[in-house]
Amino acid sequence: MFARNASGQEMNPGKAKNKYEMKMTSFARSRHRHLLAYPGMVLIAWVSTASAIIAVPSLAQALSVDVHAHRGGAALAPENTLAAVRNALALDVDFIELDLHVSRDGTVVVIHDATLERTTTGRGFVRETALADLQRLDAGRWFHARFAGERVPTLREVLEAVKVHGDDRVRLNLETKYDARGPAPPSNFEELVLEQVRAAGLSGRTIIQSFHYPSIVRVKALDSSITTAALRSPLNPPLDPVADVRAARADIYSPGFRLVTREVVEALHRAGIPVVPWTVNEPADMERLLTVGIGALRGDGIITDHPDRLIQVLRARGLRR
Ligand code: G3P
Ligand code: CA
Repeated sequence: MFARNASGQEMNPGKAKNKYEMKMTSFARSRHRHLLAYPGMVLIAWVSTASAIIAVPSLAQALSVDVHAHRGGAALAPENTLAAVRNALALDVDFIELDLHVSRDGTVVVIHDATLERTTTGRGFVRETALADLQRLDAGRWFHARFAGERVPTLREVLEAVKVHGDDRVRLNLETKYDARGPAPPSNFEELVLEQVRAAGLSGRTIIQSFHYPSIVRVKALDSSITTAALRSPLNPPLDPVADVRAARADIYSPGFRLVTREVVEALHRAGIPVVPWTVNEPADMERLLTVGIGALRGDGIITDHPDRLIQVLRARGLRR
């Protein structure tokens, strides 16, 4: 995943021999470094009271929670547009979550629905529309007049915007969309996505997620170093989330947030699998997820349309600057 070993090579904490050590090593390198003071203080208290308590954080203790801006932060700017991406960058989120489809002429574009009607001035299927025609559509006015002129961006344009911004910490969470209500993507969908990510030099900072597990399997077959996430709808809960994630060859479990209980989180964490629930917009739901263990394993995160709210919740708990 995104941690590094002593030689500076990227490592997958799921495969690390000592997961706690991996987590704390990478944690020490992160923006949450100041929180390391906390276990240190616990240790001092333990020594001074000679209690028998072991001074390491319990599995359910939140240490760091990645903020994923859902569709770029869909409550704050028109989803899946460059305006949303720039807003997410300005908010200093950890991940920008975006949805991918393919145009008629084979370009990977950033849009949620298989059809154009809800978020653009166009009509019909994305997959049946040429890129030049997609780029003539307005993808911002439906959200607010001040976003008029926003376009359906290509994946390449988004990657370029991230690079131009110059933030070498922000990461991407890209969803390969397979919608049974529309025409299927081309059989080389995953190759097209990985090509773009690789060309931008962002492979080490990108998660590929999907509800369509064959897509994840394909991504891993093409590049086993890419971090992947298995999405699960609350309408379709897995019997055994750990087995589910492993069958998908995923590194991360990303369920609808109502599927997340303490038992589920602990089972995933015992297997070294981070949990990244979606789409969590109410502070009370964010708080509940922290109390059931989200944040106890490095890579845990919360996907939200309101990254601003999540950042506030985390700051109030001392989990973010
Ligand atoms: O990242 C998970 C979430 O994005 C899945 O739902 O429909 O918003 O793509 P959706
Ligand atoms: Ca998505």
